[in-house]
Amino acid sequence: MCGIVGAIARDNCVPFLIDGLKRLEYRGYDSAGLAIAQPDTHAIERARSVGRVAELEQQAGSLRARLGIAHTRWATHGVPSERNAHPHMSEGNGFTVTVVHNGIIENHDEMRRDLQASGYVFHSDTDTEVIAHLVHRHMSGGLSLLQSVQTASGQLHGAFAIALIASNTPDTLVAARKGAPLLVGIGQGEWFIASDASALITQTREMVYLEESDVICLQPTGLSVYDRKGQAAQRKSVISQLSADSVELGPYQHYMQKEIFEQSGAIAATLEMVSNASAISPQLFGAEAADVLPKVQQILILACGTSYHAASVARYWLESVAGIQTTVEIASEYRYRDSVCLPGTLVITISQSGETADTLAALEHSKTLGVEYTLSICNVPESALIRASKLKFLTRAGPEIGVASTKAFTTQLAALFTLTLVMAKLRQRLPAEHEAELLTELRHLPAAVSKVLECEPEVKQWAQRFADKHHSLFLGRGVHYPIAMEGALKLKEISYIHAEAYAAGELKHGPLALVDADMPVVAVAPNDTLIEKLKSNLQEVSARGGELFVFADRDTKMQSAPGVHVMKLLDHAGLLSPILHVIPLQLLSYHVALVKGTDVDKPRNLAKSVTVE
Ligand code: M6R
Repeated sequence: MCGIVGAIARDNCVPFLIDGLKRLEYRGYDSAGLAIAQPDTHAIERARSVGRVAELEQQAGSLRARLGIAHTRWATHGVPSERNAHPHMSEGNGFTVTVVHNGIIENHDEMRRDLQASGYVFHSDTDTEVIAHLVHRHMSGGLSLLQSVQTASGQLHGAFAIALIASNTPDTLVAARKGAPLLVGIGQGEWFIASDASALITQTREMVYLEESDVICLQPTGLSVYDRKGQAAQRKSVISQLSADSVELGPYQHYMQKEIFEQSGAIAATLEMVSNASAISPQLFGAEAADVLPKVQQILILACGTSYHAASVARYWLESVAGIQTTVEIASEYRYRDSVCLPGTLVITISQSGETADTLAALEHSKTLGVEYTLSICNVPESALIRASKLKFLTRAGPEIGVASTKAFTTQLAALFTLTLVMAKLRQRLPAEHEAELLTELRHLPAAVSKVLECEPEVKQWAQRFADKHHSLFLGRGVHYPIAMEGALKLKEISYIHAEAYAAGELKHGPLALVDADMPVVAVAPNDTLIEKLKSNLQEVSARGGELFVFADRDTKMQSAPGVHVMKLLDHAGLLSPILHVIPLQLLSYHVALVKGTDVDKPRNLAKSVTVE
């Protein structure tokens, strides 16, 4: 949450700061700001605005400087307002310190009291402002900007990435990271920093991923890195594989739309190693997997939001196909619960970003309980989550910019299905013939995804009927119950229509009381062994005057009737059916949001990477 950028450019850094913020806006978008240092006047100039980066751009249009920092905010401490927008400043003793910050300072209350006692006056409600005053106090005591940030970093608790400039050192930018990502982009005689590679890609492909507790100093002469002990350190640069195109909208109206339509390619890329192999092997999950996976006795999957829904689908697969006991838990609950961890447990964490604070903390918590075997399924190769696990599987969905997760979800499912096959094979539950059949089905999956996407025009028509509704129910059974949950999350997230998902069998235990003509009921209706049970549940809805929207398999014997809209998709896809059934639900939420005119890619109150608890 929140995005930070900074630069020492050869010429004017402001266009990069604005462009970088626009690319990071998906991380937070309730206010934005920038600060630049003027070497001639020893002044810091600052511009801040509530709302989008485009507004800041208007304000900052005439500013010019080689050195600057900038920020796009997702409010945690203090309402979205100009006074709470970053950069925050501390002025006095003839100089000014300015900071941008991503993350949370947990001991900010105590620090604020301490700094106030030293005479510092606070101008915002943020936790960030303590950093500016703390660094200012150290500089007033004679430390350099670098030494002050190094000292302050040790005093600040929480997870953060920060970047600072000071008016009395107008050729120096100091940045630090602790638990939040920060990268340096290396240009030709110029340097950039950002919390995410997508902000750097237009300037350079050569990037340095900073390590935990690193502090860096950028000057016109170059980059210096200091490790957690304050010792000078070397960090290797990498050439980013991210392409500028992959973060552009192209012909699409929204990133969510682009990402929905990229799913076929994203799944194909994720499954490339699997599809090219003649048989499934544990090595798909890393070099150590052949040693670790055979020892696994049970599985615990931890994740949040959409990634939790992927985990919930996987539970059905792992138990039914691989016969291995699997539990799934919301990461934010698990991390604070006293739980029992049995020997031989494989803890799987799933995350698109690999930076979700609760998921990272849940993984660390599991390690404190003695968990030895860990696997992360993640879409960002350099993320903290990938680094924290023994085994890893990278989904290759490409950057996902829309806040509503789509292609990350289906690629996570592709990865989890692959894991299911690996575990089933290790446990002698996957005869060679069945393995070959399932591999063939996996190879055909991208084509099936493209085919399902053809339902868009029909979904678009259905979307009109949701626009004036305030509530909706999503129903599914078995492995499609988490798909109903994902459909409901998508709808509420971007259209702000209240949506609840239920296992269809639960309807009569309470939620049926809600059903009336104003409550559309969406049903996920694959032609599986539960279809007759589901049909009975849907009858219960019709009998109460509820309007049904049923996404059925083509081979399902269900027909539209008054109050019952049935859309036929493909023939039943067996075990892979959940991956196909989520697609019309993504399209439905997208088109409802379009009809309602909400901000599809940046829904209110949300941000893409949830790096705070
Ligand atoms: O990056 P992660 O997969 O760890 O993110 C988890 C959730 O924050 C995320 O899936 C969220 O629920 C999405 N916005 C849903 O569309």
